[in-house]
Amino acid sequence: MNLDSIEEIGPATKVNLTNAGVGSVKDLVVRGPYNISEITGLSIEKAVELCNKARIKLEELGALEKSFITATELYNKRQSIARISTGSRCLDELLGGGIETGSITEIYGEFGSGKTQICHTTAILVQQSKKDGGLEGKAIYVDTENTFRPERIVSISKARNIEYINSLENIIVAKVFNSSHQELVIQELGKIIENNNIKLVLLDSAISHFRAEFLGRGTLSERQQRLNKLMHMLIRIAEIYNIAIIITNQIQSTPDIVFGDPYRPTGGNVIAHASTYRVYLKKAGKNRIARIVDSPYHAEIEALFSLGEKGITDPI
Ligand SMILES: Nc1ncnc2c1ncn2[C@@H]1O[C@H](COP(=O)(O)OP(=O)(O)OP(=O)(O)O)[C@@H](O)[C@H]1O
Ligand SMILES: [Mg+2]
Repeated sequence: MNLDSIEEIGPATKVNLTNAGVGSVKDLVVRGPYNISEITGLSIEKAVELCNKARIKLEELGALEKSFITATELYNKRQSIARISTGSRCLDELLGGGIETGSITEIYGEFGSGKTQICHTTAILVQQSKKDGGLEGKAIYVDTENTFRPERIVSISKARNIEYINSLENIIVAKVFNSSHQELVIQELGKIIENNNIKLVLLDSAISHFRAEFLGRGTLSERQQRLNKLMHMLIRIAEIYNIAIIITNQIQSTPDIVFGDPYRPTGGNVIAHASTYRVYLKKAGKNRIARIVDSPYHAEIEALFSLGEKGITDPI
């Protein structure tokens, strides 16, 4: 869907947008008016007008939900949500059938709890046919901690009798060096998704660069603002391209909690509100416990799974 389909975009504006790397109506909506104004120099009023027109266009074409619909329509629409297997039937069941498209699933937990293993396994499984738990699509792996390993893609694929050459070919990796690079990479996602049949984006991890760079109380509000922008862009990407997004997150201990688990995911309300599903991983000997927290419709239940040659598997 190119920019010509919006009347308000004249030739000069089109050149301006194209030079800034915005080439489609969907990309316009994903970026939103503030980003568009920033990268093109258009006034914010003009950018708001264009983004609103773009949204209406996508609504008309059925690519985006209309602003007002009945709960019945919404219910019917949700019946068609696709899911990607995690590799463990138990974990899939916990998630209501797997990782959902159109949403952000946050996986958080201590080191070695399996967050990166889930990312590697789903990056392979999303490529498989529907009957094998996939969506016949590709994955984008945004690696901020330098822990993506193509060798692991090979070993998981081999253990699952999947042709590893295909697995590697269908994962696009973006190595991210700092928080502003991360913002840039997320802004560029739309274009790559549109041109590559992407069904899953992995962000491993979402906020480690921000935590490392914004130290001290004085910088907290700027950090949260920038994270908030980033997370909202991710929400729009999941919705507009109808793909699944998995983000990983670390935990920190909160000393003020006297009873119960003292660990909370990092990133505060910004991450909490942006994630549709939050899954907390804990070590339990050779197995791992996954607990679904703060879900809009899942009960707070737990499931066991395990880490092995096949990546994520059912518990031993
Ligand atoms: N080839 C393998 N075979 C079996 N288990 C493996 C293999 N590779 C990794 N693991 C398991 O995965 C664990 C590491 O998990 P993972 O890297 O997903 O942790 P994480 O939650 O991402 O941690 P961090 O917070 O440090 O990023 C290892 O401790 C090991 O138990
Ligand atoms: Mg990791």
